[in-house]
Amino acid sequence: MRLVRIRVQHGHLINCRKHPAVFEKLQPALSIEIATQKNIGGENMYFNGKSIVSIRDVDKDMFQKIIVTTKEVKDGKHTGFLAGKLLSTLFFEPSTRTRLSFESAMKYMGGGVIGFTGTEFTSVKKGETLSDTIKTVSGYCDVIVIRHPVEGAARLASEVSDVPVINAGDGANQHPTQTFLDLFTMNEFFTDLSGIRVGFLGDLKYGRTVHSLAYALSLYKTPLWFVSPDLLRMPGYLVEEIKANGSQIHEYNELDELSEPLDVLYATRIQKERFGDMQEYERVAGTYRITKEVVGALGKDVKLMHPLPRLDEIAGEVDELENAIYFRQAHNGIPVRQAVLGLVLGVL
Ligand code: CP
Repeated sequence: MRLVRIRVQHGHLINCRKHPAVFEKLQPALSIEIATQKNIGGENMYFNGKSIVSIRDVDKDMFQKIIVTTKEVKDGKHTGFLAGKLLSTLFFEPSTRTRLSFESAMKYMGGGVIGFTGTEFTSVKKGETLSDTIKTVSGYCDVIVIRHPVEGAARLASEVSDVPVINAGDGANQHPTQTFLDLFTMNEFFTDLSGIRVGFLGDLKYGRTVHSLAYALSLYKTPLWFVSPDLLRMPGYLVEEIKANGSQIHEYNELDELSEPLDVLYATRIQKERFGDMQEYERVAGTYRITKEVVGALGKDVKLMHPLPRLDEIAGEVDELENAIYFRQAHNGIPVRQAVLGLVLGVL
């Protein structure tokens, strides 16, 4: 874990972003350290009192626990189970779905929420460190949800917090609760996640949702198709991890290079805010656009997913197709996060 802390405290991450090869060299070592620190196992020793920082902390049994518990919550089997609990949402980066669905999740189940979006009116503006902010806030609540632009920030927060920390996105690295809701949504249509064909389209380099989800699917050995411009390919260290877990990988630049139909196409926004060089962004912006015609060519049964927000990669006309399940996916954020909060707080 020291590696993460050094990178966060000294801002090495920014250098790593400018030098992706360096980041890719560091990341496998980081993954090994994280894996050896896996602290969750068995029933709801699974999640009770534990932080959720990386998808690498989670195994298939734990995904199953989330899926089953979410279904129970969605079916109305549990009510009011977060009463008397307080969540802190610390969003150092913008969010609509993640922050508001965590807040809704908490409030619908009787809990309360404090927090901030942006640091303008916080003591971060006076120079307070992330570590001191977390140590302080962890005395004000039962659980913390954090989004931060720096990879490794949520891990650091989990190490200094007295209460569980849930990573709501750390830079281009991980977004584990998005993966939970992605898997839950897929599972509503496909009960066997190992038997489906999943494509990822767009920004596979900077998209933390695709990093988390592709890794999770590799635990099911799901075959994966990665479609992106060369500039935005899935990082090499992740491709190696995913292959090692048993998923077959196929990489293309264009959707029409796919010769067989997909069951799911997971499209992503090109993440302008993560580019160090705006000329590079301009070269790839608007590369893909899914229209009704494109959906027709992909196959009549393909399910279209997207973590949202979207820019122009999915045309508005596609929303009316049964194939489009991205708003259902976003709405599943509430029961999934209710399940996650209930499990982490030990009340489910
Ligand atoms: N999917 C997702 O993380 O959306 P927000 O950035 O709006 O939270």
